[in-house]
Amino acid sequence: MEDLNIINNIIFTVEAGGTLNGTLRVPGDKSISHRSIMLGSLAEGVTEVTGFLEGDDALATLQAFRDMGVDIEGPDNGRVVIHGVGMKGLKTPKEALDMGNSGTSMRLLPGLLCGQNFNTVLGGDASLSGRPMRRVTEPLADMGAVIGTTETGTAPLSICGDQPLHAIDFTLPVASAQVKSCLLLAGMYAKGRTCITEPAPTRDHTERMLTGFGYPVERVSLGNGRASASLEGGGKLTAAKVEVPADISSAAFFMVGASISEGADIVLEHVGVNPTRTGVINILREMGADITLSNEREVGGEPVADIRVRSAQLHGINIPEDQVPLAIDEFPVLFVAAACAEGETVLTGAKELRVKESDRIQVMADGLKILGVDAQPTEDGMVIQGGGAGSQLGSGQVESHDDHRIAMAFSMAALRASGPIVINNCANVNTSFPSFVELAQGAGLKITC
Ligand code: S3P
Repeated sequence: MEDLNIINNIIFTVEAGGTLNGTLRVPGDKSISHRSIMLGSLAEGVTEVTGFLEGDDALATLQAFRDMGVDIEGPDNGRVVIHGVGMKGLKTPKEALDMGNSGTSMRLLPGLLCGQNFNTVLGGDASLSGRPMRRVTEPLADMGAVIGTTETGTAPLSICGDQPLHAIDFTLPVASAQVKSCLLLAGMYAKGRTCITEPAPTRDHTERMLTGFGYPVERVSLGNGRASASLEGGGKLTAAKVEVPADISSAAFFMVGASISEGADIVLEHVGVNPTRTGVINILREMGADITLSNEREVGGEPVADIRVRSAQLHGINIPEDQVPLAIDEFPVLFVAAACAEGETVLTGAKELRVKESDRIQVMADGLKILGVDAQPTEDGMVIQGGGAGSQLGSGQVESHDDHRIAMAFSMAALRASGPIVINNCANVNTSFPSFVELAQGAGLKITC
């Protein structure tokens, strides 16, 4: 794997300065794209998906279902047509399913695979093979599933089919939509009513899409931001049309880029603004960002809006912990915003960042230090002293650690740097945002690769 990465080393070089302008549409939402393939494959009938993210992660999910006998047309300009095989219609794959770099595939698929009547093995790349999987395998085992991991609780995962599953009533120890979704998917195959309670709100695309595919899900708000979702096993999914909105996690790079660069004015079109995903907007606004939403509408059960962002002088804040799960993928670029803000920004309650595609606390702190920023990593967050109005970040060479969001976050940092920023190992930007370089160039970022 390492050799392959060296051969494929893609380096981003971003010249300092410039600004962002124009109207852009970033690619489709990664979370929704994954789920559209999963539910479309298990549904009865033909599901048409538009706006599908043609990035490596969602394509890994798509390929896995092809490997299990599902006829899937496309993707063709974001259009995918899935000929659903029904809840029990998947076929034994010839070999191990390759999840690549995709945590969502690796954590959601076991939920539905333990309900099949065949065995499967799920593997992934070096980064994914280092990420914790017991958070899904342990509760699945409580439901009666038989799943093997490595001794350290990581992939590859070996899933034994043909095991009778029973429902559980489970409170998530970490606020994780991947774990919640995995268990709800398994719940469809279990006897009884599976109820999953979250300690804080997490993205609810699975619940929304299940409802859209005609599978009843009951959701109860428990106060203090806690909610539960439950469903009865033994139901079926009916094919649906899925229109995937643009990914707010990809839009976030441009939201920060426009906020920190002088004279910026961009409109990000048709972005998913599901309230379980809008932490980045809430946090940036609290830091003084100039963000307005227009054309708010609902598309296929998901709220969508156009987002206008103009330059603003940001100031440091204590990031409210209740916003952390709602912005969990956006912290690399929010750290860049904090580095340009006036005063101190403190993040706490975000230990999960240490087990993402990279240890995003350490990796961002290391890179920001190379750019001359006072960034102190803590066990569950970071303390950043921002430079304030008119300040510049330094220049230099930073490592992405094969993490797409680190690569894109440091690209945006160049808008406020004193010299070029060179970012190593950027191939994985393809996992979530294959057109990043072209779109960013078009908007005014001086990036080449
Ligand atoms: C995702 C959930 C989040 C997020 C990931 C996608 C999903 O992970 O970081 O990129 O699609 O459910 P966690 O569930 O680990 O918080």
